[in-house]
Amino acid sequence: MKLLVTGGAGFIGSNFILYLLQKDADVTIVNLDVLTYAGNLENLTAVESDPRYTFVKGDIADAEIVGRVMGGGIQAVVNFAAESHVDRSIMDPDAFIRTNILGANVLLTAARDHKVERFIQISTDEVYGSLGPTGLFTEDSPLDPTSPYSASKTAADLLALAYHKTFGLPVMVTRCSNNYGPYQFPEKLIPLFVTNAIQDKGLPIYGDGKNIRDWIYVQDHSRAIETVLKKGKPGEVYNVGGSNERTNIEITDYILKELGKPDSLKRYVTDRPGHDRRYAIDSTKIKRELGWAPAFSFEQAMAETVAWYANNRPWWEAIKSGRYQDYYLKHYGKLE
Ligand code: NAD
Ligand code: TYD
Repeated sequence: MKLLVTGGAGFIGSNFILYLLQKDADVTIVNLDVLTYAGNLENLTAVESDPRYTFVKGDIADAEIVGRVMGGGIQAVVNFAAESHVDRSIMDPDAFIRTNILGANVLLTAARDHKVERFIQISTDEVYGSLGPTGLFTEDSPLDPTSPYSASKTAADLLALAYHKTFGLPVMVTRCSNNYGPYQFPEKLIPLFVTNAIQDKGLPIYGDGKNIRDWIYVQDHSRAIETVLKKGKPGEVYNVGGSNERTNIEITDYILKELGKPDSLKRYVTDRPGHDRRYAIDSTKIKRELGWAPAFSFEQAMAETVAWYANNRPWWEAIKSGRYQDYYLKHYGKLE
């Protein structure tokens, strides 16, 4: 199968490419990525000379380059490319609209025109908005996004489904919960807190820290996408979750304990505007219909993740000492 992966230099995309090239000898992958601040080709050094892998630098909102790549015999598309950080979307939504909505539309149009056989839109559980203390999101839960990030992802999610209904494009949508693992940009909760704790810097906990996320190891997500790619039914939405709800304080405590760092590194800071209280996913559909289930326990995969950041300091130190640092200082002022 000749696969186009977009946004493959980011966190989940690069993990997915590494996973699939190892798992499937028959796959060839073209990775189309414009390399924003979040794209990092270092994530893919292990496969850069693999003859089954090609990198193309380009923007998914650029119809010319997308048409050229898609016209090279692409059979299936997995669209990871996105602006992905909620806090950035609150400060500056424009790039989110351009990439997440307009870019998705360019890809969908090209996939339709080139008669692509499978198209997976990587959506998110954030399209459902926030849950109260009980209940789970199912694929039929109402869509009620809160941030410019989640609203733009909802638009793309519905646009992808519309291309199935209107044009018969074989689209599948996955809505996954919060991922963790290697190569996650250190602006997201887990890599930010792990790397800050290693550097003895404060951990900025928003609000009361009791917001809940359902955490899934990135390799379990990669296997879910592979499963949907091979067995998913066009026009269907699949929720993907780790069945592993934790408050942000629980995550913080886990990281501090794992690294042997003191509680005094915790800093309670002003809450994120519109901060979703709780996400929790019901993955019954993908389990029953496609036979996928998460394989990693939180304890095992989190210990490995923390160890990965501890053992790969050059990877994140380069990021934190560069452009990311400017963003961080602007955002958190004089935290340290
Ligand atoms: P990321 O920010 O780490 O990576 C995004 C990648 O997309 C980067 O390599 C970036 O360079 C690329 N990109 C951005 N704009 C582009 C454009 N216009 N053209 C081409 N490439 C572009 O994001 P991530 O955490 O790996 O998330 C990947 C996808 O998974 C996103 O669609 C996100 O909404 C979704 N998702 C993420 C999570 C999570 O927990 N991280 C959970 C559910 C769904
Ligand atoms: P994040 O990793 O940004 O993912 P998302 O907002 O997409 O779920 O945040 C996860 C949770 O951690 C969320 O409740 C916000 C919180 N958070 C903090 O408390 N402090 C931080 O510095 C960050 C980045 C997130």
